[in-house]
Amino acid sequence: MADSGYRPATVGEVRRLRADLHAQKKKLVFTNGCFDLLHAGHVRYLAQARALGDALVVALNSDASVRQLKGPTRPLQTENDRAEILSALRSIDAVLVFSEPRVTKLIEDIRPHVYAKGGDYTVDSLNPEEREALEHVRAEIKILPLVEGRSTTSTVNKLLGKDQAPATTKDAGLNIAVLGSGEGSNFNAILTAIKRAELNATVSIAISDVKDSGVMKLAEKAGVPAVFVDPGPDSNKLGAAAQKEIAEHLQRNRVDVVVLAGFMWLLKEPVLSAFKDRIVNVHPSLLPKFKGRDAPQQAIDEGEIETGCTVHLVNEDVDSGRILEQATVPIHIRDTAETLHQRIKEQEHRLLPKVLNEWRERGLPVWAEGKK
Ligand code: GRF
Repeated sequence: MADSGYRPATVGEVRRLRADLHAQKKKLVFTNGCFDLLHAGHVRYLAQARALGDALVVALNSDASVRQLKGPTRPLQTENDRAEILSALRSIDAVLVFSEPRVTKLIEDIRPHVYAKGGDYTVDSLNPEEREALEHVRAEIKILPLVEGRSTTSTVNKLLGKDQAPATTKDAGLNIAVLGSGEGSNFNAILTAIKRAELNATVSIAISDVKDSGVMKLAEKAGVPAVFVDPGPDSNKLGAAAQKEIAEHLQRNRVDVVVLAGFMWLLKEPVLSAFKDRIVNVHPSLLPKFKGRDAPQQAIDEGEIETGCTVHLVNEDVDSGRILEQATVPIHIRDTAETLHQRIKEQEHRLLPKVLNEWRERGLPVWAEGKK
């Protein structure tokens, strides 16, 4: 089929559009997104955004960045096709494609008068750098309501026949994020429990600070969006930029529960407040005994005859939040830290999905109350 001749706008063209509007005391509205499969929710959102000013410019995530955000099966349509489809809408004056993880630079370059964002965000959950850039260029921030029941995911599910079950949004189960640095056997246990219908949940994102970790490989194999987050230069603590980035990924995916499955760093703000009482860790000892690294070795060194594993809530201290469940494991005479850890992991693989399923069935706050 013949090429339509369409090409997305350049930053220079959008800057000229902004300058023309500004000279006429008119307003440029700016928004961004993936727009992979256009639906009525998008169209209404874009019309509302356009109504906030006199021209609307959409920055469209490039194919590589959609893949990073939504997983290896997306986008369904190429960036050029997505841009061409969007540009045919009456509400849109220009579409440009961007490949950076954020629109901070575009905001600085374009200096929109108004910035519109969908209602799955609040002004506070906007990316702090983008928000700072918006404040710097004095753009007005407008959060527009989401259109209920219209989403690309629900359309894709219909196509795949996945909407046949009488599922309500709640029945879709717990929306889990898994953070891990290593092998990922606990992550695998969660995926297996979901597959066997022992846990009603979806893992919407896996995050790792190690590019080639087992966690990343497992996620790829299972079709779970996997994100590498650079831990930063300090080998003793996870950097502030990484903490922020993790919080954004979790918020963007509207995660219910964050599972630390062998994640080797302490989480801090803004993640802790944003997910207060919704972050669980699994640790290979009967806490409060043997916190920190090498817990199986610590138990052997102390001459214990049994140890175990603990699933607990995460707070600002190492392995210290409220204990949710524990399982014991005997220590054998010939155990090394490795053989013992292996047997502890078998219990972890049983315990962690069980706790998550109870969470899903009863909800955490009430249920954990009696288990302080
Ligand atoms: C587990 O033993 C867990 O208790 C500890 O780290 C280990 C992770 O193992 N926090 P894996 O990556 O899930 O195999």
